[in-house]
Amino acid sequence: MQSHEIRKRYLEFFQERGHRFFPSSSLVPHNDPTVLLTTAGMQQFITYFTGQEKPPSPRATSVQKCFRTPDLEDVGDSTHLTFFEMLGNFSFGDYFKKEAIEYAWAFLTEDLGLAPEKLWITIFEGDEDAPEDLEAKEHWMACGVPEDRIFGLPKSENWWGPPGDSGPCGPCSEVYFDYGEDLAKGDPSEDPRYGPGGEEGDPRFIEIWNLVFNQYEQARDGTLTPLSKTGIDTGMGLERTAAVVQGVRSVYETDLYAPIFEKVREYTDARFGSSETTDRALYILADHSRGMAFLIADGVRPGNQRREYVLRRIIRRAALQAYGRLGMGPEGLAGLAEVVVDYMGDFYEELKKSREDIRRVVTAEARRFVEIYDSGMGLLEEELSRFEGGTSPGTSRSRCTTPTASRWR
Ligand code: SER
Repeated sequence: MQSHEIRKRYLEFFQERGHRFFPSSSLVPHNDPTVLLTTAGMQQFITYFTGQEKPPSPRATSVQKCFRTPDLEDVGDSTHLTFFEMLGNFSFGDYFKKEAIEYAWAFLTEDLGLAPEKLWITIFEGDEDAPEDLEAKEHWMACGVPEDRIFGLPKSENWWGPPGDSGPCGPCSEVYFDYGEDLAKGDPSEDPRYGPGGEEGDPRFIEIWNLVFNQYEQARDGTLTPLSKTGIDTGMGLERTAAVVQGVRSVYETDLYAPIFEKVREYTDARFGSSETTDRALYILADHSRGMAFLIADGVRPGNQRREYVLRRIIRRAALQAYGRLGMGPEGLAGLAEVVVDYMGDFYEELKKSREDIRRVVTAEARRFVEIYDSGMGLLEEELSRFEGGTSPGTSRSRCTTPTASRWR
């Protein structure tokens, strides 16, 4: 099942159950100055959760574009992402834990056809501020999940929000997919550190869905006040869900990235597995091509502050890999971003509308980077040759030895 089919089934499932479809909001949050970029599906609904505004419908569903910066420097392995899509269903004072859990279970096991015994659950184990979430546990067990596949975890793992420094939050319950005992480092029934969400649970368990039970409003000073109306905020990562449904172990092996890797092959001979450096370059190009296309489509332009700087960083990080490692030029990088427009533009029309901007902005920024890179490499080579007793500085401005402008494509 391809990713576009998963999106479609998800939205249909929840629309059939009375949820109103909301298009993804922009990556640039319009109503929350406390956050740089949109990082979760619930952000466009915050005022509905807090009761400041009346929602047009008590139930909502969406596929939200998200961009998370904390992992930016880790992108380059087979797991980390900055840009991703979050499938979500939301209740504003309408249904609560029972229905949220029943819906999640039905969608995963019936609509996506995942084997029930592959699904493990975590719940909030309780602390001095809030009790263990036994209610969530009961509802999972009523769906047929055996007790020994439900793990209680602390607030650091099973509490969500608020996304900025204040707002709605509460305990959460996560669904993990089990990739199999052969990947296990230990027995979760004996030591929960080997269980889902445990310190040693990777790579056996992958989290696919987070069900947040909004029960509190957190003030800036951290104080929790019960919300007058409870709510549901769920987020299922499309990339991870696609990996599980498509039977692959890395999100980068799903259909969502395949067209980008295909396009890279038009420009270079780079293949996965040929070297660690090449793999890293490919992962960075795959993630960042998506991020840059979507950020530009939402009106962000490269700059030196805040989200503008995020865009500049990802274009330059990608350009370093594209040019410095794989010998692709700025037009090549823009070509990758355009593949994102081709593959995702039917669902996200803003991509299609911004095709020209995406090409222009990526090419210009990558060109600037290549100039800096070339002059930096020239200086470095000069220094090295001086160190080795070669030409003295200033007499030779040798250019970078590997990719050159003639290899720009
Ligand atoms: N807001 C929660 C998350 O981001 C669930 O959508 O995980």
